[in-house]
This record gives sequence, C-alpha cells and structure tokens, in this order.
Amino acid sequence: MNKSFFPLLAGTCSLLLSFAGVASAQQHEAVSNPPFALLHGPYLQEVTTEAATVVYETSDKAFSWVEVKPHGAADEEARRCLTSRDGLFDAYNAFGSVRIHNLQPASQYDYRIVSKQMLQFQPYKVTFGDSITTPWYTFSTINPKKKGASIFVTSDIHGDAAKLEKLLQLADYRSCDAFFYAGDMMNYINSHELPFTSFIDSSVKLFASSIPFEVVRGNHETRGNMARSYSTYFPKENGKIYGSYLLGDVMIVMLDSGEDKREDHWVYAGLTNFDAYRSEQAEWLKQLIQTEAYRKARYRIIISHFPMVMDTQWKEEKEWYGWDDAIRKFLPVLNEANVDLLVSGHTHRYFYHEKGSDGNRFPVLKQGHDSAARLELHDGKIHLKVIDTKGTILKEAIL
Ligand SMILES: [Fe+2]
Repeated sequence: MNKSFFPLLAGTCSLLLSFAGVASAQQHEAVSNPPFALLHGPYLQEVTTEAATVVYETSDKAFSWVEVKPHGAADEEARRCLTSRDGLFDAYNAFGSVRIHNLQPASQYDYRIVSKQMLQFQPYKVTFGDSITTPWYTFSTINPKKKGASIFVTSDIHGDAAKLEKLLQLADYRSCDAFFYAGDMMNYINSHELPFTSFIDSSVKLFASSIPFEVVRGNHETRGNMARSYSTYFPKENGKIYGSYLLGDVMIVMLDSGEDKREDHWVYAGLTNFDAYRSEQAEWLKQLIQTEAYRKARYRIIISHFPMVMDTQWKEEKEWYGWDDAIRKFLPVLNEANVDLLVSGHTHRYFYHEKGSDGNRFPVLKQGHDSAARLELHDGKIHLKVIDTKGTILKEAIL
C-alpha cells in the first residue's frame, strides 16, 4: 500500500472530524440559542378613540418598532411608531411598549412588530443580528357613538391561567367588546415571567392582540420583590394604575383599593403607603364624577378589587383596616355618582349585595374566585350573568 495514503486518509478523517465538530457545535448552538423570536404578546392596552398601546417581549435584546396602517391598506402605507425618551428611541430592550397616536375614532387598523436583534451595543459599534416581522394584527379604536357594550369581568385567578381560559370560553369571549380583570390575577410578583404565565399569555392566545384587557390591581399584586414593576406591563399615558375608561356611552371607573391590612402590618415590612394613595384616588374620583364625560355616560360601572361593602362575617373575623379605609373613602363619593353596578372580587365567595343592603346606593357584585361576570349593556339596562367554572349560572338578572 502506498504509504502516502495514510497521511491522506488521516487528513481526510481529520477534515471529516473537523466538519463533524462544526456540525455538532452548530447543533449545540441551535439547541442552546433558539432563534430570535417574539416571546410574549403583542397585547393591546389603553385603546382610546385616537390611540393604542402595543406591548411585547422579544427573546433577546433588540431595537423594535410597530408598523400601523388602515385595515386592509397596502404594506407601503404603514407608518413606523417608536417609543422615544429624551431624544433616544428605546433600544437594547426585550420587553417594551409603543404608544400609537393620531388614530381616527371608530376605525380599524392593522399593526405588526418589527424587531432587529442587537448582538452588541458598544459606544461606537452596534451590531444587529436577526430580524423578525410579526404577522399583521387588527384592532379597532373606540367608537364614541357606540351604544352599550358586552363586557367580561373576572378576578382572583391567582395564576391559574387554565381557569381564566375556561371562564373566557364559558362566557363566550368571542362576542365580548371589552375585558376587565379585577385584581389578584397573580399571588404576588417575584419574577418577570409571572404576569405572562399567570394570565397575559392566555389572554393573548384568545383575544388580547386585537382587543385590550384592562387591569385593576388586587392586594396580592402589591406583594413580592417585583410588585413595583406592575405598571410597566399595563402602561398608561398618565402613569397611573387607577383610572377611567369611556367605551362609547359606557363609563368604567377602575379603582386601585390597595392592601387590606394596616400599613404597619408585618406583611408589608413598612413598605406601603396605601392610606395616602386611597385619599389621592378619592380626590380624583370626586373630580371625575363632575366631568361631562362621566355625567353624560348612560352606564356607569365601577370595578374595584375590594367590594365597597363588608358583610358581618368579614367584619367579625378580624379588623380589615385597608379594606375599611377604601369603603370609608370611596363609598360616600360613589353613593353620589349614580353608579349602576360595582363589580369586585377579593373575598373568593360569590355574593350579590342588593342596592341599599349596607349603605350602598348601587348593587355590589362579589363574583368569587371561580367565576366570571358578563355584562350586557343595552337599551339602558344591564343584563348581568355570573357563571362558574362548571358552567353553573350563579346569577342572571336585569338591573
Ligand atoms: Fe384573591
């Protein structure tokens, strides 16, 4: 045998082994580094007659923007929307939101997210990686002339996303115009992923890329070492968690009732300031109910995590200072505000308090932790239906 064959064979094997090594490394890289992608969302927040916010998260740090166009228009008609702060576009972030302005009322739009992965972000060198462009999603701005609404409300999901999906299905979410979560959708917030796995991802799967959900904070969502990032998931132009939402002739007021115990309770470790916060909201509420928008609304619905009544059983159990403080500060204002219905959670027990049952001049629904309410607002009346996870109708009434 030609002796020179062996080195050649050895060289070939080396080359083959070398190729195998590269292939193996690439496979390993493919396993350890999944392709750049959209990780969460997009979901809509604070859609009004002329604006909407898109929230998203990519799998890696990136430079992202939203493209928006009238529904069905050519791609070339899309305009680019970015978040700009102090002269700099948001960049080198995975989680982000973009407020789209200058929309027309009662109009349909298509939007998509375009994102460029940022591999390096040095002072004088930026290296982009892969790019993604999502499919187009469609949404509508609020129609100020719309009469009535079909509204879904639930609360106290406490991280059980499957339960949320079940309740949405049972309440026929496809025919709802608006979705409100009345607090305690999580037990606490101690990781960035938790809000997504608890309820945001499920909402996106079913509707939230096209119709926004609005959140009212529950007392559990004030707990945990990431509770202070709560509002970044649900951004509002005014930076507040509480607020009002006008859907045509329906005024929704969202109160943030805070914690249920005294500020000096050991659970809070001296880190809460809810007494002052509730006072601030009460003053805001007094002003809101004097506005033309509030007074002219045909329906006025309040959503609050704490019910604005506390039945005897709870009063006797122990002192609930924070809950009581919310009632003391909000109820007198609400009693003068021609409220049609207050929807709440917190107690985990369904109960319907008739108007006038405990100093309340409007009915108060406590929907329980295994149920959801559907409100049909038509012809000046509220058709209320409360359904639990077994499909049992707990309440059906016309208010
Ligand atoms: Fe709860």
